[in-house]
Amino acid sequence: MKYFIQIFGCQMNKSDAERIASLLDSLGYNAVEQKEKADFIFIVSCSVRQSAENRVYGLMSQIKKLKAQSPKLKVVLTGCMAMRKEVVKNLKDVDVFLDIKDLKTLPKLLNTKSEQAEIETYFSIKPKYESGFTAYVPIMTGCNNFCTYCIVPYVRGREESRQPQEVLNEVQCLLDNGYKEIILLGQNVNSYSPKLRTQGSGFRAEIINDFPDLLEAVATLKGDYWLRFLTSHPKDFSDKLIKVIKNNKNITEYVHLPIQAGDDTILRKMNRKYTVKHFKTLVKKIRNAIPGVSISTDIIVGFPGETKKLFESSAKTFEEIGFDMAYLNKYSARKGTKSYDLKDEVSDMEKKRRELVLTKLLRKSGLDYNKQFKGQTLEVLVGKKGKDDMWFAKTRTYKVVKFKSKKSLLGQFVKIKITKAGSFGYDCELF
Ligand code: SAH
Ligand code: SF4
Ligand code: F3S
Repeated sequence: MKYFIQIFGCQMNKSDAERIASLLDSLGYNAVEQKEKADFIFIVSCSVRQSAENRVYGLMSQIKKLKAQSPKLKVVLTGCMAMRKEVVKNLKDVDVFLDIKDLKTLPKLLNTKSEQAEIETYFSIKPKYESGFTAYVPIMTGCNNFCTYCIVPYVRGREESRQPQEVLNEVQCLLDNGYKEIILLGQNVNSYSPKLRTQGSGFRAEIINDFPDLLEAVATLKGDYWLRFLTSHPKDFSDKLIKVIKNNKNITEYVHLPIQAGDDTILRKMNRKYTVKHFKTLVKKIRNAIPGVSISTDIIVGFPGETKKLFESSAKTFEEIGFDMAYLNKYSARKGTKSYDLKDEVSDMEKKRRELVLTKLLRKSGLDYNKQFKGQTLEVLVGKKGKDDMWFAKTRTYKVVKFKSKKSLLGQFVKIKITKAGSFGYDCELF
């Protein structure tokens, strides 16, 4: 039996897909590169914006044709969209809707037996990592925050933290296998809170009560590697966490801190539970404590009731903070969320205009940040090969650099010298 996995959405979905793949491999299924050759197509879907769901609808028309050619083809839909029964009931070509947390039931669904030992939770399935040097390691799933625009708490459910020992074992195993970059994942890593449980002879696990404890325990595992984490909610980014980042050289100087709006009226309507003042103070604290830190953000334009005046105030905050990178999102109303029924919609054209305004500000703040590194020599992790001996790598601060080399450097730390700084990355040469 051959399978193909189509992934949409965030890093959490990529990580989930690695667990699906390993489970299927253990059932004796073989991965194929083209969906045309598969007996099973797995779709790991995303619901965060309408555009994400539309990609699945688009894929469905292709699948309809494939099913007409090979009637035995089976389609499994998992990921966040699979949890929206009212939305997906019209997807007639999907054979099975699977809650990712029920992944361990997959062998039964497929009428086969897994060679993997008894699976306790879906987290305990050993992943088939896509990369040989960078690994996503989930530490929790779900969200309890209920930002009024966001579908995630409805589709991913309440927060569930993984046992520290399990996280530490997974990372240790990766480091033993030479992995160079570990990215800890959670919808809101700062609310990591493992339930107390007897940990047996587990090392250090008994003293891990919160995210900074876990991060420090991971960061002190032996090895030559970089440690990152995603995503942090500004309301509970603690001083203790700043200290841990500052004091552990394996943790990179990169913080993704979604602001979502730069105006208190909108932040309140979004139920974000912090003010612009709190956010700015936090950024200042992080920048003071961690020299050279890069702070990136997510921001939504066109939330209902965001008048031109409120947007201007938000853009001003955005400019004042001067983010080193930002992901700009046009508001998309999600049925089932609190903000779905809010009036005062912003037109698509106006959302696009606002996105452009912020892009322009970002080009400037990104360049201002990147310029300070011109002429410097930095260590980077090589992640991808391009055309004509071009290589793409990431700095500790999660910036993209490109340079030429005839040697194969994939997955290695190398030293480069920055020759040119742009808004979103650098040109450089091997040192
Ligand atoms: N847990 C993360 C975000 C997860 S969703 C956090 O709290 O920051 C990823 C991003 O999608 C969010 O940061 C937000 O900017 C965006 N997003 C979520 N819902 C959205 C919506 N309804 N419309 C537009 N963007 C949205
Ligand atoms: Fe969504 Fe807010 Fe939870 Fe992030 S913190 S996943 S934006 S509800
Ligand atoms: Fe999308 Fe779900 Fe991630 S909605 S962004 S795949 S948590």
